[in-house]
Amino acid sequence: MDPAVTARLRVCVELMPKPCGIVVFGASGDLAGRKLLPSLFNLWVRKLIPRSFFVLGCARTAMTTAEFRERVRAAIARRCEARPDECEAFARRCAYLAGDYFDAALYATLAQRLAASAAEFGAEGGAVFYLAVPPALYGPVVGRLSAAGLLRQGEGGEPWRRVVIEKPFGRDLASAAALGREIRRVLGEDQIYRIDHYLGKETVQNILMLRFANAVFEPLWNRRYVDHVQITAAESIGLEHRAGYFEEAGLLRDMFQNHLFMMLALTALEPPVSFAADSVRDEIVKVLRAVRPFTAEDLRGALVRGQYAAGEVGGKAVPAYRAEKGVAPESRTETYVAAKLGIDNWRWKGVPFYLRAGKRLPRRVSEIAIAFKSVPHSIFIPLLPEHLSPNVLVLNVQPDEGVALTIQAKQPGAKLCVGDLTMRFNYREVFGGEPPDAYERLLLDCMLGDQTLFLRQDAIEVSWSLLDPVLDAWSRGGEEERAGALHSYRAGTWGPEEAEALLGRDGRQWREP
Ligand code: BG6
Repeated sequence: MDPAVTARLRVCVELMPKPCGIVVFGASGDLAGRKLLPSLFNLWVRKLIPRSFFVLGCARTAMTTAEFRERVRAAIARRCEARPDECEAFARRCAYLAGDYFDAALYATLAQRLAASAAEFGAEGGAVFYLAVPPALYGPVVGRLSAAGLLRQGEGGEPWRRVVIEKPFGRDLASAAALGREIRRVLGEDQIYRIDHYLGKETVQNILMLRFANAVFEPLWNRRYVDHVQITAAESIGLEHRAGYFEEAGLLRDMFQNHLFMMLALTALEPPVSFAADSVRDEIVKVLRAVRPFTAEDLRGALVRGQYAAGEVGGKAVPAYRAEKGVAPESRTETYVAAKLGIDNWRWKGVPFYLRAGKRLPRRVSEIAIAFKSVPHSIFIPLLPEHLSPNVLVLNVQPDEGVALTIQAKQPGAKLCVGDLTMRFNYREVFGGEPPDAYERLLLDCMLGDQTLFLRQDAIEVSWSLLDPVLDAWSRGGEEERAGALHSYRAGTWGPEEAEALLGRDGRQWREP
């Protein structure tokens, strides 16, 4: 049977970077093994990057190139569908250099090895330095790369030098600004690629396609037709051995400052002048600046924070957050946040944006739901307008990537018989297979010099400026602490009851994704 939704390719523009190489700092770590090496392999094997390509792994762990290649093969075998000869050909393009990130000698050797690899593989177009290391090392590594002359670009920007860093970008406005200044001392903004991996997800990119490559949605995308918006990023996992980081960060820093704010920004932004990096990023910053700052009153009314207690997820008993390894028994770190935000501009004034994210919720699901207003009047007497469910457009970010629109429609049978009808498009059904991993898109864009899907420093600073007052109040304790109480929720539920009340007070409720 034909799928209910069909797709016909109209235009597909994929550019090819010039032959280049990548230096992965932290090459022996988790991110490299889980995401970076498999993504680089996939790009290479699918010929999205030139065959003339090389990887230079760099880390503190003492290891030979032969041992590193073993890890590369294992990482590919775990994550990719690879023919042995392809895997072998890729592994031969990988080399390793061990050293101390603070030692200038490492960078002198790196300069020689980089030049040698570029010459050996004919990949002299440019180099990416991927910093898969703890954020405290960003400044020191970038400073030493610069001192060794490794960030200097050629005439007219060729060969190019680019640096990729990952969140967290600071832990508040002051530290984010300081990090920004430290890096900008030795790098131009056009050389800095700050990753928010949500922006690399196909479905998150589809928000802009859906809004601005179609004429039917945008006229409705405003306060006249939209009742409210719900953005959810739910995870069933707990800490996953990251207590050291998470205890210090908490969910607001871990998920809101970046992923949730970016989904909000793409949903709410004004039409960019073009799909060019700074046009899109200008609009992201503009809409974030229009988000109404949280007041002291909002700590009680518009924000709910929670921490999971013991419970059951996927039929398995799981411990309370405070009983997780590495977590203080009295920890007040939040693992759940729900918030009501307002955007003070002509398009969105008065339309609430409800955002929530949490660990140990019933399942992993991220979505953006645009809930439209009810019809103004019902001609279907005795049905009242409120008997006709308002339309909802859901952008499923993961795991069932797709789009669903719920409308009211005549049901077979009685003359007055109406009900919900959901039109659903699912990526896997229509395009077959999994959408590519976000890191593939982002690594490729970095090699192409396209910064559209990377964060600009000003966006990071605006989002911190919105969260700083909340984090301050939460950390101060005492009277303020009571204002923003930490609620408990059973693992495996959709969060604290107070989060239901947040919408309940407005006569609305959370969707069950
Ligand atoms: C990361 C957070 O940025 O995103 C993690 O640090 C979180 O805590 C992860 O689990 C979620 O990403 P994804 O792609 O699985 O939704």
